[in-house]
Amino acid sequence: MLVLGIESSCDETGIALYDTHAGLLADALHSQVALHEAYGGVVPELASRDHIRRIVPLIHQTLRQAKKALTELDAIAYTAGPGLAGALLVGASVAESLALALKIPALGVHHLEGHLLSPLLGDAPPAFPFVALLVSGGHSQFMAVRGLNQYQLLGETVDDAAGEAFDKTAQLLGLPYPGGPALSRLAQNGNPARFALPRPMLHSGDLNLSFSGLKTAVSLLVKTHQTEDYPDIAASFEAAVADVLCHKALQALATTGMERLVVAGGVGANQRLRAQLTMQLEKQGAFVAFPPLRLCTDNGAMIAYAGALHLKQRPDFPCSGGAFTIHPRWNLQDYAGAF
Ligand code: KG4
Ligand code: ZN
Repeated sequence: MLVLGIESSCDETGIALYDTHAGLLADALHSQVALHEAYGGVVPELASRDHIRRIVPLIHQTLRQAKKALTELDAIAYTAGPGLAGALLVGASVAESLALALKIPALGVHHLEGHLLSPLLGDAPPAFPFVALLVSGGHSQFMAVRGLNQYQLLGETVDDAAGEAFDKTAQLLGLPYPGGPALSRLAQNGNPARFALPRPMLHSGDLNLSFSGLKTAVSLLVKTHQTEDYPDIAASFEAAVADVLCHKALQALATTGMERLVVAGGVGANQRLRAQLTMQLEKQGAFVAFPPLRLCTDNGAMIAYAGALHLKQRPDFPCSGGAFTIHPRWNLQDYAGAF
């Protein structure tokens, strides 16, 4: 089965073609980073308009790259939420109208399901069950994943998401949007042991996380230090986030009795986090899988893949009737069973 995936929940237009036999055939991405940079964050109205401009040319580009025609598609999967309402509407309306015209199913996929299944697109895909650590711009949570549609929330952030903490801290350090990659680059030349930043909720006993205090601690350091100290501040911040996530990841594996951790979402691209998780989990005899770097952040491949898995389970899924709903706020548990 050939599935076209469309991701447009935030500031990336991602399109991909996934074949249930041959795997990922092609994917294309347009990032709006340059468009929103001047505003220090995503401007929803500009995001929607840009998705409209990019989406059809990107679909053509992806089909050309895979040497496939629209008429060969068996289904279209698109991000139905959570995300920016206007941005989601662009992907959903293109997907549903195209599916209606082609008389094929259109599947509204949960964005976070896409992220948490994305490591399965890698070279050594982990088997179920596993603990998924989802760390993106909008979410930070531990989920127990026992199979498709079997997702159990183990713990989550009580305030900022990990990516949000990276972005806000980067802003304090005068770095450009998006902050995560810029902060990690700065941290490369810094001393992570110089500033003893707090490790919020390290010993809370549960799997919840908190990052807003860390950002406050950095804002105090920024007031009392010079720009030449910023690499050390950035490295110390990264170390604090990595320490907490590693500690809680080990705890999540211990509580569930599982042996595999899968890291997904934009912050999963962070090299310090990757290195520390790999080292600490391997020491415990556990296994950690990361999506290929380009699939850590938003992309169409993870949506095409999630849609393909659902379609395999429900080959009788009805063709698009043209009507659809988007879910700007959407709990992953409420979604389980949508297909
Ligand atoms: O998953 P994603 O692309 O979009 C959401 O669904 O939110 O995640 C974006 C987040 C941003 O906050 C960005 O700063 C962060 O991921 N990020 C990173 C890195 N690359 C992206 N954070 C830390 N280190 C990185 N290398
Ligand atoms: Zn995302």
